Amino acid sequence: MSELLLLLVFSSLASLTTSVADDYTGFVYAGCSQLKYTPDSPYQLNVESLLSSIANAATFSSYANYTSASAAASSPVYGLFQCRGDLSSSDCNSCVRFALSQLSAFCPFTAGAAVQLNGCFLRYGNDSFVGKPDTSVLRKNCGPVAGGGGYNSDVLGMRDAALASLASGFTGGSYRVGAAGSVQAMAQCVGDQGAKQCNDCVAAAVAQLKAACPFAVAGDAYLGKCYAKYWSSGVYHSDTNDHGDQVGKTVAIIIGLIVGVALIIFLAAFLRKAGNSGKD
Ligand SMILES: *[C@@H]1O[C@H](CO)[C@@H](O)[C@H](O)[C@H]1NC(C)=O
Ligand SMILES: *[C@@H]1O[C@H](CO)[C@@H](O)[C@H](O)[C@H]1NC(C)=O
Repeated sequence: MSELLLLLVFSSLASLTTSVADDYTGFVYAGCSQLKYTPDSPYQLNVESLLSSIANAATFSSYANYTSASAAASSPVYGLFQCRGDLSSSDCNSCVRFALSQLSAFCPFTAGAAVQLNGCFLRYGNDSFVGKPDTSVLRKNCGPVAGGGGYNSDVLGMRDAALASLASGFTGGSYRVGAAGSVQAMAQCVGDQGAKQCNDCVAAAVAQLKAACPFAVAGDAYLGKCYAKYWSSGVYHSDTNDHGDQVGKTVAIIIGLIVGVALIIFLAAFLRKAGNSGKD
């Protein structure tokens, strides 16, 4: 009986972990300013009001920027959020809410912070970063090498073509998808960037990807105001060491334990009943 329970706990763990790790709340990165604010300061009130404006806006919009200075005009806070262009508004809303909940865990009391999940991005700070370009590289990640160690020029040719279609600017918009053969690519700019700024940022991200991942079947590059990534069909570009997976696993273990305990209770009740009916 205990072996069966163990099996059930692990199978529910495996299935739940996969579904959680694949979804739009998967963790990509978080960054915090070194500077912290004083708890209960007017600055904190500005931050809280800004974050609640973001939470409200995410129910009906995929991008918004705010300046909050109501509690203290001398220390304004600037902030924005951006959902990935293909998310439904309800997924955008839950993604932003999840990102907001991560903020206090990763960056408690920091003057500025940013959280990037698979499906959304949010950032706030006391510098007026909204509307300004930012191509600083925040994260780069490469998948396995094409052809399992050898050079696979087919995949790499398709990769370059898929990435070129993102950066050409013809696809336009802040959310871009491209494909060539079995390789798919996507890019997302933050909504405060104009068309030219977005083109420049995506071109910079693509250049980073090509330089950092010359032979990889998958890769991503996250810059200050945009990101780009590509992957080959059949290669799910997962982040093995990221926090989203950890959250997913923790949730899975908790659910697994609840299922296990419920099963023990159920089986105990069943056995007692079976024992009683045996006596009758
Ligand atoms: C942000 O806050 C810190 C600490 O109060 C201050 O030193 C810095 O100048 C501020 N930055 C801006 C752009 O106001
Ligand atoms: C910031 O938000 C305001 C108010 O919604 C909007 O008018 C402005 O265009 C936004 N600025 C940028 C850079 O997105």
